[in-house]
Amino acid sequence: PWSSTTRLRPVARTGDVPLMDIVQRHGTPAYVMDETDVRERCRAFRAALPDADILYAAKAFLCRAMATWIRQEGLGLDVCSGGELAVARSAGFPAERIVFHGNAKTPRELLEAVEYGVGRIVVDNLAEITRLAALIPPGRRQQVLLRVVPDVEAGAHTAIRTGGEDQKFGLSIASGDAAEAVSRVLARPELRLVGLHCHLGSQIRAAEPYERAARVMVEQLAHVRDTYGIVLPQLDLGGGLGIAYLEDERGLTPEAFAGTVLKATRDRCAALDLPMPLLVIEPGRSISGPAGLTLYRVIAVKHTLTRTFVAVDGGMSDNPRPSLYGARYTARLVGRRSAAPARQVTLAGHHCEAGGVIAESVALPADVRPGDVVAVPATGAHHHSMASTYNLTGRPPVIAVADGAARVVVRREDIDDLLRRDVGL
Ligand code: LLP
Repeated sequence: PWSSTTRLRPVARTGDVPLMDIVQRHGTPAYVMDETDVRERCRAFRAALPDADILYAAKAFLCRAMATWIRQEGLGLDVCSGGELAVARSAGFPAERIVFHGNAKTPRELLEAVEYGVGRIVVDNLAEITRLAALIPPGRRQQVLLRVVPDVEAGAHTAIRTGGEDQKFGLSIASGDAAEAVSRVLARPELRLVGLHCHLGSQIRAAEPYERAARVMVEQLAHVRDTYGIVLPQLDLGGGLGIAYLEDERGLTPEAFAGTVLKATRDRCAALDLPMPLLVIEPGRSISGPAGLTLYRVIAVKHTLTRTFVAVDGGMSDNPRPSLYGARYTARLVGRRSAAPARQVTLAGHHCEAGGVIAESVALPADVRPGDVVAVPATGAHHHSMASTYNLTGRPPVIAVADGAARVVVRREDIDDLLRRDVGL
């Protein structure tokens, strides 16, 4: 099964639907999501961590179809905005299975979360405690987790590291904010503190940082017990498991993650005489990332003295990750076989800036030409969800494939969509 391999998933395995059929019916650029693959990844997490509460991090990719797959596979949902909550609600995602995050939740978002009855709210700062408590209707108690900064640095790029002491998320242990928050939440009868949360960062391909974080967090649970005599039942270790974007990369499997984290948590709990908490995790990328790919049409091929540019009909508006994080990708020619030798090319986007490149060094057949179609794998997470309309480019559709059939789950954004917001005539 896929879960025992951490390698880049072959493009050919997309739901048994020929990619050129999708191109012919739906055009390019297009995101393709393999529903079966998403479901298998959910099951692999459940199999690796049968006693844990597994929440899919909606920020990686969410639409109503995705919310339904996640619900049907028995996972909960981590949302971080009113928009994600609205999509979850509209898909009928059960409120009690939703966890609400955010370092700057607006009063309106908090109200919407409380009104919908989300199961847990992750409190990120001191001000939020009073604000949230004031919104809880009489007779109800809102379950909360406190987001604590474990001071563990991990993640593929500084912009996606959230575990170190010096950053905007969570409550610092060192400054005393974390302890203060525990005492304030415990003092509010409208709130019920059910556990502690941390999130180290994203695209972490080793299990070791999670081991360190688990130890720090169990020590914090022990601290709460020693101070207040309360044993908090839940420990949420966030998400961030890395995937393969290139052939020679390896992701972090649910099995490897589970082995390390379970052992670290159990050992530290035993040493501190604490019961094993309910583990909660929030994988996003590792569930939807490898299940997606992006299809582009080649528009132009040109040669400079130093390299070959292959320019396609999409780019930084559907994939901002190379520009934001220096992320690297590979690409494959689809729809025809070529006997030509491979050549290293730069896969360039069509946006009006020089940095608008999808991949700096990709091996494509030397005869790649306008009209060809290329697929960029591993674009199922943090791509559609971060897409923009830069250069007034409409966002691509999301085509779901399963059981040999393809269907549109998010339609292409067209010029009417873009003009609808422009009310200035
Ligand atoms: N839980 C929390 C509290 C998070 O902040 C995140 C990601 C996750 C879970 C899920 O992380 P994942 O398993 O997907 O790595 N746009 C960036 C990634 C930002 C991640 C932000 N938080 C990228 O394209 O790399």
